[in-house]
Amino acid sequence: MKLRIEADERGEVLVPTDVGMSLLSAFNHDPSISVEGARVLDVGCGSGLYTVAMLLAGAAHVTALDINAACTRVAVDNLARNGIDLSRVTVEVADLARLEITRPWDVVVCNPPHLPSDPAYAMEDGIDTALVGGLDGRAMYDVLLARLDELLAPRGTLLLTHSSLTDIQRTCRQLEQAGYRCRTVQVCELDIPLRRYAAHRDVLLSRLYALRSAGRAAFRGLRFEVHTIAATRSSTNEKAGES
Ligand SMILES: C[S@@+](CC[C@H](N)C(=O)[O-])C[C@H]1O[C@@H](n2cnc3c(N)ncnc32)[C@H](O)[C@@H]1O
Repeated sequence: MKLRIEADERGEVLVPTDVGMSLLSAFNHDPSISVEGARVLDVGCGSGLYTVAMLLAGAAHVTALDINAACTRVAVDNLARNGIDLSRVTVEVADLARLEITRPWDVVVCNPPHLPSDPAYAMEDGIDTALVGGLDGRAMYDVLLARLDELLAPRGTLLLTHSSLTDIQRTCRQLEQAGYRCRTVQVCELDIPLRRYAAHRDVLLSRLYALRSAGRAAFRGLRFEVHTIAATRSSTNEKAGES
């Protein structure tokens, strides 16, 4: 699949990173994941990377959601660049925590922010919103998990990039306890993205070391893993242990 995604000249929207691209590589190599005819929610659409990819792969309709209003303009430009009929897309500016859901989706796709925040390096712009997720980096993962039963239709699938900096086991455990079948589609290893925070590298690393000591982050040297996780909702979503 050939995508044409261009960056935001104003620097308000994240340029697709290796973390984001890893989900597309997993998606392209696993024929068991299909979005043909599906209604898809792209949570944190950014430049529209996944929205474009899902529509080119045959999704019937995508809701592209982001808290950063600048993503609307960039995502729509990228949709046009790829010749996509805009009637197949709804672009929505909202916080996932407050999103009003009228009808659940067949597929939810998401690449959450995954770095821990600290006042020393907070820049509070669109790129920070894309990279930094609360004190432990898990802010968006936690909202997604809390709302997943509302977001996904029965037998629907969550496709998630999960950084090893944000406790993958915790997410998989929570998904399984909530009745989702969880599998790792692909694992890749990358460098911890420190360049943007180079001036505060020691602070950021010390936060990551503290999280690792508490068993909440995993990395070796400056390398971490990104897992692409597919979690499928059963028709009833019986919680683990319920009969
Ligand atoms: C890591 S970026 C992913 C962008 C794009 N999906 C990609 O893979 O290139 C995370 C995106 O989530 C958005 N975001 C962060 N918190 C959010 C929230 N609470 N609700 C909706 N979007 C949010 C950010 O603005 C950012 O565009």
